[in-house]
Amino acid sequence: MDKLIVAQSGPLNGEVRISGAKNAALPILAATLLADGRSYISNVPHLHDTTTSIELLGEMGVSLSVDERMAVEVDTSSISSFVAPYELVKTMRASILVLGPLLARFGEAEVSLPGGCAIGSRPVNLHIDGLRAMGADIRVENGYIHATARRLRGARIVMDIVTVTGTENLMMAAALADGETILENAAREPEIVDLADFINAMGGKVTGAGSDTIRISGVERLQGTRFEVLPDRIETGTYLVAAAITGGRVRTLDTRPHLLDAVLAKLRDAGADIHYGEDWIELDMHGKRPRCVDIHTAPHPAFPTDMQAQFCALNTVGEGVGTVTETIFENRFMHVQELKRMGANIKLEGNTAIIAGCQQLNAAPVMATDLRASACLVLAGLAAEGETMIERIYHIDRGYERIEEKLAGLGAVIRRIAG
Ligand code: EPU
Repeated sequence: MDKLIVAQSGPLNGEVRISGAKNAALPILAATLLADGRSYISNVPHLHDTTTSIELLGEMGVSLSVDERMAVEVDTSSISSFVAPYELVKTMRASILVLGPLLARFGEAEVSLPGGCAIGSRPVNLHIDGLRAMGADIRVENGYIHATARRLRGARIVMDIVTVTGTENLMMAAALADGETILENAAREPEIVDLADFINAMGGKVTGAGSDTIRISGVERLQGTRFEVLPDRIETGTYLVAAAITGGRVRTLDTRPHLLDAVLAKLRDAGADIHYGEDWIELDMHGKRPRCVDIHTAPHPAFPTDMQAQFCALNTVGEGVGTVTETIFENRFMHVQELKRMGANIKLEGNTAIIAGCQQLNAAPVMATDLRASACLVLAGLAAEGETMIERIYHIDRGYERIEEKLAGLGAVIRRIAG
């Protein structure tokens, strides 16, 4: 298994291009199943998870071609299977996103039930309940969700927890249902808006995406289209934290500043100077040590859980004390024990980590446990004296495109060891 070796680096300096958003590309690739004919999706990030999605669609008989810039051409006119097998779902939970589109277009889907996950139990009951409310017949048996429907019917669905992929699955299913669906307490993440834009570009009728009430008027059929995936706000935030933790100055390019309001506010609290234009953000720390900040994760537009681990790393070397409270996932603090092995001063109390910043972390061999935890360890490695060896970095390849090349381009001392 590959490892990353990260040496104390910085201050980081330079420009980095941001890739397309993983969490928008995955539902958009699934949504191509809704349409007849060809779609052409550009700005798809080159990641393990997007490759898994492409493999999953391929197993269903979809023909796909990918050019060298990861623009994906998808032809869904010849689907031969409606199954998302355990072998693929166990490597990527987001495979559940094919459930809604398959059921809506073909009246049939068999999707492995995703199991638990390092960050929490992550059930999919709201996906299933919502589809049942739209008239689907669903059995969960032998680890699989077996779903059938004649034509789904529009329904008013109130979700009792805000769920991102749940909202996406129901929005896709409703796009081809008979009548109007109203999703109440819907997730408001930018990736939901991107998916709604894609469905509308295919001829769908979705309004209200980005608010907590989404209305979808089902149409008889959707047509393939061309679409560019929005930039990755979490990748953007991760490189900005890399600049902040090393006292550096970094400009992220091809991004969208307004998607990161809550993150930028916390970086300013940490002492960073931030400037932005239409599609770039520059953070300048002027060589200073950051201040510790208090974080409380919550659904968008509040502070994203996917940036929580990176801010834990920032606080470990900050001035003062910061508290980080995780409210979305019940077990998303696996990075804390690894940070402690690097000398971080962290006390976990329930779902809050109390972090007293120290002057200097020390390198240690550490283990990545999930995607954002691995990003946190890379950031900590940039600020730690010595060489930090990070194992199990396949997690990071699920969500960060060429992270070691991008960081090296900013002056970080980082290398991958194949193993
Ligand atoms: N939940 C339920 N029942 C459901 C669905 C969700 O109880 O049917 C609970 C979950 O257990 C969790 C909360 O609701 O406690 C929110 O989970 P959500 O469904 O919103 O998470 P998700 O859709 O599985 C997406 C992202 C995650 C991101 C979360 C929260 C994708 C592919 N994944 O997951 O991204 O952390 O939303 O913003 O969009 C990552 O990129 O590292 C990542 C984990």
